[in-house]
Amino acid sequence: MSRGAAFLGSEVAVLGGAMSWVSERNLVAAISNAGGFGVIACGAMTPELLDTEIAATKALTGKPFGVNLITMHPQLSELIAVCARHGVGHVVLAGGLPPKGSLEAIKGAGARCICFAPTLALAKKLIRSGVDALVIEGMEAGGHIGPVSTSVLAQEMLPEIAGAVPVFVAGGIGRGEAIAGYLEMGAAGVQLGTRFVCATESIAHPNFKRAFIRASARDAVASVQYDARLPVIPVRALKNAASDLFSAKQREVAGRLDENAVAMAEAQLEIEHYWAGALRRAVVDGDVEHGSVMAGQSVGMVTREEPAAAILAELMDEAAAALGRRAG
Ligand SMILES: Cc1cc2nc3c(=O)[nH]c(=O)nc-3n(C[C@H](O)[C@H](O)[C@H](O)COP(=O)(O)O)c2cc1C
Repeated sequence: MSRGAAFLGSEVAVLGGAMSWVSERNLVAAISNAGGFGVIACGAMTPELLDTEIAATKALTGKPFGVNLITMHPQLSELIAVCARHGVGHVVLAGGLPPKGSLEAIKGAGARCICFAPTLALAKKLIRSGVDALVIEGMEAGGHIGPVSTSVLAQEMLPEIAGAVPVFVAGGIGRGEAIAGYLEMGAAGVQLGTRFVCATESIAHPNFKRAFIRASARDAVASVQYDARLPVIPVRALKNAASDLFSAKQREVAGRLDENAVAMAEAQLEIEHYWAGALRRAVVDGDVEHGSVMAGQSVGMVTREEPAAAILAELMDEAAAALGRRAG
């Protein structure tokens, strides 16, 4: 992982994937202090809040960390400027292709830009447009997901792009043996989210952590779309009352569409807004039944609360042992 670590400026090339409401100063600093690379989830933060969060993270760690910005944010340029003012070394752009000018603004400030590549064609396009590194994330991951598994993305994409830029593999990684496997396939490093939620330093509500510790892989399910007229962006989260009610909600709204009792745009907005504020409700308020408990399939391998440094050390030991066995 030396290539990935050199790129990030960390000891090991393990990114703590940005998780809204979870990846704030405490967890980010803990991951970076442990030798990994923490990433602040900016999510819907205002530029002022991001400014405070970066300053607070810097107070907790002298090690490098990154900031994850969502491309759809209406104040993306201002957020990039905040990162530049603080000399943030790495900006991760999530939520689609970088809007015009954003890549130039990030790189112009001397930072490196990491983007998500959903397909091989888009990966090549992003590399041509000058991104410094890519994350490929499979559908095993927690949160918003694409349709293809990590193992298939890795096989399809690493041989083609890993020579051009550092590529970090994400989604479903729970143990170091899997990290070793992706490194052997050409990855520069990995990104994990789910495994870090129950770090001692994570401020996630105790109910949120308990739900993770109790859950098995099959409890982390992707949201399902019931009607072609009502698009649903797939999100992987633990099954709960909110996910059951979401299915009922879609059927109910589709029924009203059939009866012409609601306009299409209004119906689609009703579905789109269903999950608004739901992650915060679960992570911050601890309402794990009516909030969104975003979690990846590796949740079954989260068995206790422990320091971020212990999680990282265990992953590295497992990876080293796996590579050692193969060398021997
Ligand atoms: C609770 C939760 C919240 C997340 N929020 C975000 C986010 O705000 N932005 C983002 O780019 N990815 C988000 N993710 C995805 C992670 O950054 C990471 O890529 C993913 O968790 C990796 O897969 P894994 O969960 O299988 O380890 C989130 C994941 C989880 C579990």
